[in-house]
Amino acid sequence: MNKPREQWGSKIGFILAAAGSAVGLGNIWRFPYLAGQNGGAAFIFVYIICVIAIGIPVLIAEILIGRTAQKNPVGSFKMLTTSKFYHGIGGMGVVAGFIILSFYSVVAGWTIGYLYEAITGSLLNYEVAAEASNHFFVLTHDPVWNVALLIVFMFLTMGIVYFGVQKGIELGSKIMMPLLFVLLVGLMIYGLTLEGAFKGLDYLFNPDWSKINSDVILAALGQAFFSMSLGMGAMLTYGSYLTKKDNIPASSVWIAFLDTSVAIIAGICIFSVVFATGQSPDVGPSLIFRTLPVVFAKMPGGHYFAIFFFFALSLAALTSTVSLLEVVTAYFVDEKGWKRKNAVVVFGTLVTLLGIPSALSFNALENFKILGKTFFDLTEFISSNLMLPIGGFFIAIFVGWLWGFDKVKELVKEGSEKLFDRLPWLMDFWKIILRFVAPVLIIIVLLSSIGIL
Ligand code: PFF
Repeated sequence: MNKPREQWGSKIGFILAAAGSAVGLGNIWRFPYLAGQNGGAAFIFVYIICVIAIGIPVLIAEILIGRTAQKNPVGSFKMLTTSKFYHGIGGMGVVAGFIILSFYSVVAGWTIGYLYEAITGSLLNYEVAAEASNHFFVLTHDPVWNVALLIVFMFLTMGIVYFGVQKGIELGSKIMMPLLFVLLVGLMIYGLTLEGAFKGLDYLFNPDWSKINSDVILAALGQAFFSMSLGMGAMLTYGSYLTKKDNIPASSVWIAFLDTSVAIIAGICIFSVVFATGQSPDVGPSLIFRTLPVVFAKMPGGHYFAIFFFFALSLAALTSTVSLLEVVTAYFVDEKGWKRKNAVVVFGTLVTLLGIPSALSFNALENFKILGKTFFDLTEFISSNLMLPIGGFFIAIFVGWLWGFDKVKELVKEGSEKLFDRLPWLMDFWKIILRFVAPVLIIIVLLSSIGIL
């Protein structure tokens, strides 16, 4: 019954696959709109600190758990500890994957809708920001458009996980990721030539420190986890296909660097246009859908640029949704003995159903609020801002305190002996971060977010 476990073909294969899970709507859609809602440069500054001080150390820890146990999140904790609590933490990762997938696919559906409009050319009719905004408003106010695209996107995701065409998606992302990168850089350069664009740079890179408060820090921390696919076992699962020859710390720094670069470049693209066209930076999830059509309409070759861009963005989203559904599927296949195909159909359908109230949060259910948030905002908040940091907290505690650090040291050195020989202080640095810095920061941020601090 058990096939031999697959392994990555090459070092770069792992880095690209992990970066493929990390780079997605989180970088191009979520990062710019959160930066816009949370004070621009101040948010970006806190975000980068979160990536370096918490994201990378937790990423190393998560990959190490997966590489050592060679299993899915729940199976890995079952193998490494008898603590039922930790088996539950693995389980929370599976639930987080389920919830994230439900709202993520709504936005991913929009990218397909925009791709369609780019192909037909109707997207290029909006040269003025107000018209592009209005168009977005009209589209997302249509419940049928939203739900239909959600279903289309979930169908694509399920199709890939169902047939397990890993090679196709891997190969696809190897081509599309660099293409997306080139297109983003092209858009950035074009955006910067627009009059008034430099106000965008100022907004992104000149921090107003008074803007930093607990909400900003919580948003930045949640985004670091979301963007790096951390805290729910996705990177753990990818780590389970690694061998002892791979250098985990070096790969982790690469993944973080690629992920953060894409986010910042996307930020420059969007904010140069936001300021050049006199739009407001803090409109929330609709931000890229209101700004980009204006650039595409104006720039030379914009029609083709728009088609490639939304195609690449849909594909980047698809590589992320596949990794999300894969975590849920792997759990039911490995731990509960389900057939892969059944697990995909059952849980893919359930995720789609959970996605429907999120898709309706922009129209029929826009006034239906729980704790002051629409269903979409609520699921996004619970999964990204609460479940992922909580998962990251317990992963840090496990590797820093419970697993036995002498053993952890030996395990993490496998494949990276030279690195630790050359920079022995790195090990102490990592230990201090896992033991104290990451848990304390995460706790402070979480407590203040629920109003206790
Ligand atoms: N990191 C992805 C993004 O930034 O779009 C989202 C994501 C994928 C989160 C996979 C979590 C995950 F397990």
